[in-house]
Amino acid sequence: MNDNQQNEILHRIEKLRKEKDVVLLAHYYVDGEVQKIADYVGDSFYLAKVATQVTQQNILFCGVKFMGESAKLLNPSKNVIMADDYADCPMAHMITAEKIREVKAKYDDLSVVCYVNSTADAKSESDVCVTSSNALKVVKNIKEKNIFFVPDNNLGRFIAEQLPEKNFIFNDGYCHVHKSINLDAVLEAKKLHPDAVVLTHPECTMDILEISDYVGSTSQIIDYATNSDDKEFIICTEVGVFYELQMKNPKKKFYSALSHQVCQNMKKVTLDKVLEALEKMGPYVELPDEIMEKAANPLFKMLELAK
Ligand code: 13P
Ligand code: SF4
Repeated sequence: MNDNQQNEILHRIEKLRKEKDVVLLAHYYVDGEVQKIADYVGDSFYLAKVATQVTQQNILFCGVKFMGESAKLLNPSKNVIMADDYADCPMAHMITAEKIREVKAKYDDLSVVCYVNSTADAKSESDVCVTSSNALKVVKNIKEKNIFFVPDNNLGRFIAEQLPEKNFIFNDGYCHVHKSINLDAVLEAKKLHPDAVVLTHPECTMDILEISDYVGSTSQIIDYATNSDDKEFIICTEVGVFYELQMKNPKKKFYSALSHQVCQNMKKVTLDKVLEALEKMGPYVELPDEIMEKAANPLFKMLELAK
């Protein structure tokens, strides 16, 4: 796409979003050019909170399906439009409502803690949702001793290490993007950049978390690097965060551990698709009525416990 074509698309997006009363929410993993035009950019928790505060009737979501579904569950009267309806998170499908029901039947004193990277169906059988930025705080506030943590095994284990008083039951879900960031690659990056600080998302495996200087959500990683006096960082999460990292810290250096830390689903969201969604005002997020209320409850509980 040449500059003229790009400017034409940006102009049409700008016009339509105003005419049609649309707010654009984007996750840090979508391309920088999409982050640049969004009204709000953030991690999953921030975007869920913002979705409850915006005044526009239409939310255009630049992210993966579970994020759009969360926005809809929290705002049933609003229209939530996905920039790309096929942008989905594979980990969200690594736990089923049926498996949750099976585990619930085995324990009396159990809370089902569901990472927001999950389907609405799984949420509808869960007690509370969490994101990577609030999981520790939320689980600390749960009175039950037994915690069934779904679907992400890595985030679950990271939180369990910090809460020895709880009895965790894990599920074997994972994010293939973060799982691919392996120990050899991070050690090699450390060798190449001995002064760099390692900042890691908790979806990475435990061996990576153990050698990291800081573990946090996408926003927490960005804040940490921005507030730090260090000048070089090895970033163990999806490369979309580099856009905001570099914008906020033009003089600092950021390296990835692998050449390919890319979530292909997030990258399905392009400016063309944003324009198409605005033109069509669709596809909408639609969920069955019987799921809507049940799946919204754990999200509202998360907002309450994470305050
Ligand atoms: P954050 O909530 O940290 O933005 O993470 C979302 C995600 O999908 C991580 O892979
Ligand atoms: Fe899902 Fe991983 Fe992509 Fe995050 S990076 S949306 S967990 S596949």
